[in-house]
Amino acid sequence: METFDIAVIGAGAAGMMCASVAGQLGRRVALIDHAPRLAEKIRISGGGRCNFTNLYAGPGNYLSANPHFCRSALARYTPRDFMALLKRYRVTWHEKHKGQLFCDQSSDAVIDVLKNECDAGQVAWRRPVGVEEVSRLQDGSFVLATQQSGRMKARALVVATGGLSIPKIGATDFAYRLAKQFGHKLIDTRPALVPLTFAAADWAPFSTLSGVSLEVHLATGAKKAAGAFVEDLLLTHRGLSGPAVLQISSYWQPGEPIHINLLAERDAAAALIDAKAGSKRQIGNLLSEWVPTRLAHVWLETHGVSADARIADLPDRTLRAIGDALSRWTLVPNGTEGYRKAEVTRGGIDTRELSSSTMMSARVPGLYFIGEAVDVTGWLGGYNFQWAWASGVAAGQAAAEFVHGAQAQPI
Ligand code: FDA
Repeated sequence: METFDIAVIGAGAAGMMCASVAGQLGRRVALIDHAPRLAEKIRISGGGRCNFTNLYAGPGNYLSANPHFCRSALARYTPRDFMALLKRYRVTWHEKHKGQLFCDQSSDAVIDVLKNECDAGQVAWRRPVGVEEVSRLQDGSFVLATQQSGRMKARALVVATGGLSIPKIGATDFAYRLAKQFGHKLIDTRPALVPLTFAAADWAPFSTLSGVSLEVHLATGAKKAAGAFVEDLLLTHRGLSGPAVLQISSYWQPGEPIHINLLAERDAAAALIDAKAGSKRQIGNLLSEWVPTRLAHVWLETHGVSADARIADLPDRTLRAIGDALSRWTLVPNGTEGYRKAEVTRGGIDTRELSSSTMMSARVPGLYFIGEAVDVTGWLGGYNFQWAWASGVAAGQAAAEFVHGAQAQPI
């Protein structure tokens, strides 16, 4: 049986970061992944350019049943630390929008950096290798039964197998099953950063607007569970997508409405009524200055008003109804596009039984959970990778320290 100090299961963003840190601290680390291609999620991220961090990442950008959990790891490994790592490898980047940093090169550049960092720590790659079973020996070490590499033994085990989104590139519920096996609680999981869908009949009037995009203010929920964002909205043939909707989808609860202000910068009803005075303009023309023409025309149609109608001929109450609806378009989604399209999984391993500084289980010494598998879900915009890096570094350092301390008692 092969023996290691630390076994890391999952060679994605968090797992590679963790393995490289522990390896470079001199520990014998095995990094195990069942997927045929390395770090496919990094590869497809950011439209192929990996939005690898966000300059403003902080605890407020994450959802969790335990909101302070992410604070310590994020403070100890910051966006600047990851930027410094990329700089050492001459990878360059640009800021796109609201602190979002994307590679100038393809996402492969980030994978290469992490792969090189693992090699620098002499990490033993075991892939494609699927882990079938994990058991714990009396002395506290872990035994992994694998499909292709037989049995492996390690003093510490780090689980970095991610969430459920995009099963076709290797996502599994492995981390959740393992957490349950060792007595951990789970926070209910659901797709997040995902397009929202509507009942066909409700969406029928808007289904022809597929491809229309505009900046909106979008909100859902109440009080502590509320989310509100000013971002682009994209209409699709099945419902709503674009950054505004992906952001809000993480806060949306089934059955709840979402509220869209299509004209955040003006009081639409008052502006329409003001426009009546001495105007010969058609309402369709005026609305087309505020929102895309196709949307303006469908909007008027759904309110039973012809786009050719002169504003001056329309009663105030009609203009107010059209304007108020533009400022507060309320819709109740019937669901989401699911894990097939979700960028992340909300929920996961309950962090109240993990150490926020080391990611170690409070139940099982030497067992760590990191990355998307735990109940920490970032906003859209580089926050999820920053959590993967930060939790990976925290666990890598802590597991290295743990096995060093455990060396007095041979496995
Ligand atoms: P990750 O999913 O990266 O890695 C888990 C690894 O575990 C995988 O390699 C998998 O094969 C392996 N695995 C799973 N089950 C296993 C098993 N049973 N045995 C062995 N191995 C197993 N975030 C961001 O910050 N910026 C961005 O630009 C994007 N863009 C983006 C686009 C798309 C399309 C998606 C789907 C997601 C994003 N994300 C993102 C989210 C980001 O990719 C995600 O949060 C991180 O990759 C999570 O890192 P982890 O290492 O936790 O899991």
